[in-house]
Amino acid sequence: MRQLTPVDPHDSPAGRLAPVVPRLAGIAYGGDYNPEQWPAEVWREDVALMREAGVNLVSVGIFAWAMLEPAPGRYDFGWLDRVLELLDRAGIGVDLGTPTAAPPPWFLHRNPQARPVTRDGRVLGGGARQSFCPSSPAYADAAAAITERLARRYAGHPALMLWHAHNEYGGANAFCYCPVSAAAFRQWLRARYGTLEALNEAWGTAFWSQRYGDWAEIEPPVTAPTAVNPAQELDFYRFSADAHLANFRRERDILHRLSPGTPVTTNFMLANCKNIDYWRWAGELDLISNDHYLRAERADNHIELAMCADLTRSVAGGRPWLLLEHSTGAVNWQPRNIAKRPGELRRNSLAHLARGADGIMFFQWRASRSGAEKFHSAMLPHGGTGTRIWRDVVDLGATVRGLADLRGSRVVADAAVLWDWESWWALELDWRPSVDVTFRERVEAYYERLWRAHLTVDFAHPAASLDAYPLVIAPSLYLTTPAAAQNLRRYVAGGGTLVVSYFSGIVDGNDAVHPGGYPGALRELLGLSVEEFLPLRAGETVRLNGSAPDGGATADVWAERVVPAGAAVEWSYLDGPAAGLPAVTRHRYGRGTAWYVSTRLSGTDLDGVLARAYADAGVVPPAGVPDAVELVRRRGQGVEYLIAINHGECDARLPGAGLEMTTGTTVAGHLVVPAGEVRVLRTP
Ligand code: GLA
Repeated sequence: MRQLTPVDPHDSPAGRLAPVVPRLAGIAYGGDYNPEQWPAEVWREDVALMREAGVNLVSVGIFAWAMLEPAPGRYDFGWLDRVLELLDRAGIGVDLGTPTAAPPPWFLHRNPQARPVTRDGRVLGGGARQSFCPSSPAYADAAAAITERLARRYAGHPALMLWHAHNEYGGANAFCYCPVSAAAFRQWLRARYGTLEALNEAWGTAFWSQRYGDWAEIEPPVTAPTAVNPAQELDFYRFSADAHLANFRRERDILHRLSPGTPVTTNFMLANCKNIDYWRWAGELDLISNDHYLRAERADNHIELAMCADLTRSVAGGRPWLLLEHSTGAVNWQPRNIAKRPGELRRNSLAHLARGADGIMFFQWRASRSGAEKFHSAMLPHGGTGTRIWRDVVDLGATVRGLADLRGSRVVADAAVLWDWESWWALELDWRPSVDVTFRERVEAYYERLWRAHLTVDFAHPAASLDAYPLVIAPSLYLTTPAAAQNLRRYVAGGGTLVVSYFSGIVDGNDAVHPGGYPGALRELLGLSVEEFLPLRAGETVRLNGSAPDGGATADVWAERVVPAGAAVEWSYLDGPAAGLPAVTRHRYGRGTAWYVSTRLSGTDLDGVLARAYADAGVVPPAGVPDAVELVRRRGQGVEYLIAINHGECDARLPGAGLEMTTGTTVAGHLVVPAGEVRVLRTP
């Protein structure tokens, strides 16, 4: 067992307790503010109501390009000057957007070659947003020009706290297959491979007569008669994400040059954006920000929220981050836009805060009258200040103000879950052994069990240092590079406990199968090999002899022919295509232990395996905490904050003593968390 107590794995003297937005006092509270949608008379009311709600930061101008540059090279900043002045006089800070996610109609009209093209060759039009090719030089020039103008004008403005570059890079135009993109893709490939021989080798082009004799022959992976080369697909993911990163860097560098000292961020979509490898972006931002929207129809959507917040904090390297957008109520873009129930807004916001956010912001301040998002909830709904949402927003503002002390403190994690965008991309390409095997499904399944055990999770890249964690889980690591495999061996050999789920360690970074049999990258570490995949039919289940009280467990989706080579068999298949063969194994490797779970276990059946892994790792889930209570600890200088969120319908009693910060009461012995409520206990 690893001789470690769970500590803040990101604790570094540099940046410790540094405020996330240096010039802002307290926790950021506010939202996207789009004054250009309203007559100037409304602005005064906006600012007065913002003060009433405790708003101290608003994101302005994100979609205002056409209002700032109504014709190419003709600028109108007068209205924005007035808005910023009003905000400044009210003491409200500004997160100023570069409006480059929505080029004005004149841009597409003048630059028809910058329209994005889909995989099947359709040219997309305007009248929406994000209608531009990410590799377009015309777009790059226009975006740089407006960014420069803004930076020159507002650098040093007293209201300016933060720059908000663009909006959700890759959200609607992640991929473009136009001729400009194709040429840029070829250039990117030349830089990556140097020679055509190296590319042919990496892509395995001996298969299906795909060998390239000239760079000009290479296309993006457009719609083809059948499955396209998976290595080509993977590289196109990488290239496309890099194109967006280049667009971000261009703006960031302008902002840094012309507005030094003001941090630059952009709003990520963790963990709901598959297309951007955010690990690669992490070091590029001055601070990490995220947008999160509930999958509203799911009953346990607060667990998915927690997962996204934990991933955001992990991408931020454990440092505090900003929640730049979430919703006060329903969104408008899901099939059924379920409204938040009483208390849900508060629980959602404070769950983000618990998991390391030092700012709670919404889309958007005032509900729009026109346009595609008019039915999206807002801080100030169409119904105005007589509404429940408004009262909740004002209450939450007061609560957040009272929690200013948490700013800069760090979340304490118990375990790490591995997360790799490249593996996500590769796993879900065409023609895999089963369509039922997807990346997020397993990650969420394992995450949920840890959440229900009241354990806090950091996410980690498989090649990152894992030394701070007694327990690491690899729920879905189909693509495993040699560097990641070596990292995992080193981690376990040094005393760590690792749990690996099926169909992991199969291919390298080019989607080529690791030699020597499955799971090539992890065979030695797991002490076994997998002779054959045995995916199950839709709806088919298999039984395992397990640890549940009735002595069994049920699994579905996947089975395998596992051949132990050093690993001990802990569970076996009782029936199905792998009847009599090992299902779950445990391998002592160096000073640590590596578990392998070869089938899809869910719920308490998965708990059976995890309980054994917790014991190996010395991880002890807190006892006596009701199921529906979410518990997270943040640690500051000489203090610890316990945030308890009760998602259930009964009041909960937890052991604890200290100052309860939301009510200002002193707690001695027991902390009561009323049903649906949140409590924050501060202990020295
Ligand atoms: C995204 C965008 C916002 C808005 C919201 C609506 O997060 O960044 O501009 O469209 O979705 O939920």
